[in-house]
Formats: sequence, structure tokens, C-alpha cells
Amino acid sequence: MIFTVAIDGPAAAGKGTISRAVAAHFGFAHLDTGLLYRAVAARGGDPVAAAQALSPEDLARPGLRSLEAGAAASRVAAIPAVRAALARFQRRFARAEGGAVLDGRDIGTVICPEAEVKLYVTATPEVRARRRWLELGGDEAQVLAEVMARDARDMGRATSPLRKATDAEVIDTSDLSAEAAVARAIGIVRDSLAKSRIA
Ligand code: C5P
Repeated sequence: MIFTVAIDGPAAAGKGTISRAVAAHFGFAHLDTGLLYRAVAARGGDPVAAAQALSPEDLARPGLRSLEAGAAASRVAAIPAVRAALARFQRRFARAEGGAVLDGRDIGTVICPEAEVKLYVTATPEVRARRRWLELGGDEAQVLAEVMARDARDMGRATSPLRKATDAEVIDTSDLSAEAAVARAIGIVRDSLAKSRIA
């Protein structure tokens, strides 16, 4: 069975939690595509060459989850040739046998517009900044400024900007517990799977 769940949205909206839970629930493979961009930035040197040579060891580097690594990732992610170098791997992953969940910024719009389920997971900048701050510490106002700067970069770039696919379902997690957000996502995927089995 080929079945893709595309989960897009801004930083710290809850995509990772939802993606992991959906993948575990349905036994699908999961790809955190943000990690690819983080690893490209962390390799240093020419970002296009880094994207072309990316290896599984690069994805296991320590420190990839930090705020700085996220900011560096969003800079290299604006380079069209970096995105092109990473696209083929992501497309193959999305359409591999057995079902796949991919989370990122452009999965439902660019990488896999044919995805069977598209979710756009979002929350207010203040709620997202608070979550990042609880997770990583530091100065909360500074974390909010960085979240907003990253939103502006990811939504404002010319190539594959972050935007909701027209046919994506929105899950706003501002006032939802993680459990409630996961339950909504699982319900949407379950309905779509049931329909695709009938069809
Ligand atoms: O999701 P995460 O915070 O790990 O992503 C880091 C950065 O990588 C994002 O801010 C974005 O610029 C970039 N990214 C992207 N397209 C994706 C996933 C991540 O441009 N599919």
C-alpha cells in the first residue's frame, strides 16, 4: 500500500509529536525533513555540496535540535539547489510501499502534492515560543523573536515557502493538549484510510 501523510506547519507547532504518534499508530515510516536541512547547515562548507553528500551519520550529529541549528537550517533551506538535492530522497520516502509520514514545510505543497492526507499544524507564535522555551531554556522574549524571525524566513522565501496546501486540514494546537491533537490527526488518517480501502 502506498499512503502518504504530509504534515506541514511552522516551528514548534506540534508537527513532530503528531507525526511520530501517527506513524507509530499506523505502523508507517516517519521522516522528519527538518532534520535534513539542519544536518546540511551543520556540515558546514558549501550547502549545495553538503546536501548532495548527506549521509545517515550526518543526521545523527549531536546538537541538531538546538535553536541555532534551526536558524541555520532555515538559511540553507532558502537555497533552491539545496532543496532540489533533498527532494528526490523525500519523494521516494513518501511513496515507498508501506505508508509514510513526512513532516516539514513543503511536503503537501511541493514534495508530495498527491499525499492522501495533508495536515497543516499551527499555533500562535506565543504558544510555540513558550513550548520551545520550556524545552530548550534561555530567554523567553529572545525565543519568541527567533520563532517569529524563522516564520518570516520560511514563509517569505521565494522557493517552496511555508504555506497551507489548499486541500490540507488545519489542526490549531494553541489550545489543544498533545493527546487531543494526536487523536484528531489519527482520526483524520483513519477516515482517509477507510475511504481509500472502499474505493
Ligand atoms: O522543522 P524544523 O524546525 O526542524 O526545520 C528547520 C528548518 O528547516 C525550518 O525552519 C525550515 O527553514 C527548513 N525546512 C524546510 N522544509 C522542510 C523542513 C524544514 O524548509 N520540509
